[in-house]
Amino acid sequence: MTTEGLTPKDRIVVALDVADLGEARTLVDRLGDSVGVYKIGLELIYRGGLGFTEELLRKGHKVLLDAKLLDIEATVERATAAIADTGAQFLTVHATDRKTLDAAVRGRGDSAMKLLGVTVLTNLDRADLGEQGIDMPPLALVQERARLAQGAGFDGIVASGKEAAALHERLRNFLIVTPGIRPAGADPHDQARIVTPSDAVRAGANYLVIGRPITRADDPRAAAEAIAAEIAAA
Ligand code: C5P
Repeated sequence: MTTEGLTPKDRIVVALDVADLGEARTLVDRLGDSVGVYKIGLELIYRGGLGFTEELLRKGHKVLLDAKLLDIEATVERATAAIADTGAQFLTVHATDRKTLDAAVRGRGDSAMKLLGVTVLTNLDRADLGEQGIDMPPLALVQERARLAQGAGFDGIVASGKEAAALHERLRNFLIVTPGIRPAGADPHDQARIVTPSDAVRAGANYLVIGRPITRADDPRAAAEAIAAEIAAA
């Protein structure tokens, strides 16, 4: 599975990180089909985001539910099945262990929903991993968990632009979904390690998760179109 058949705009995943559903609706109305996928994260999920997911799907949009599941197997399996029933195209699950991953794969059943593993959150550094009793640099752990996810039958992983190149070399036919994207000269906000859309594509990213450079632009649609043009050029 690769990015073949996807147009540049199909590869843009807009992070709908907004305070409420009204704001999310306004953004989707403005962006329409100028982007490929809408990402709904924890803050919106707990403000009615699952109903909103179904609303977007009815309108023909694609949704990535960034639910970051992690629990005992029975719970992960049933939660994954419930999310698959919405018809969402992508779901994230923490790729910490094979039990969790296998449970998600069982829960997906024969639905077409793609499962994406979250390897190591990018806000964690080596000292934070040490606190958890893990004595390993973050990148090595990312690679280990990515292999675990692929072995379990996942479709891909979420990985920063810096990690994408290392993963792309080792994992064939595995989707790489990359956040922390900033067009050249854009405000980095709180992102510490950013890459441009072209760099992310060249590093092997299949999908680019982009929030504020689009959602806070004066003209979100124009911002999305400019990024699609950059992806096309890369
Ligand atoms: O606004 P911005 O483009 O920084 O938004 C990036 C999105 O990607 C946010 O929803 C953020 O939670 C998510 N994300 C990230 N870094 C990760 C994983 C997810 O920035 N490692």
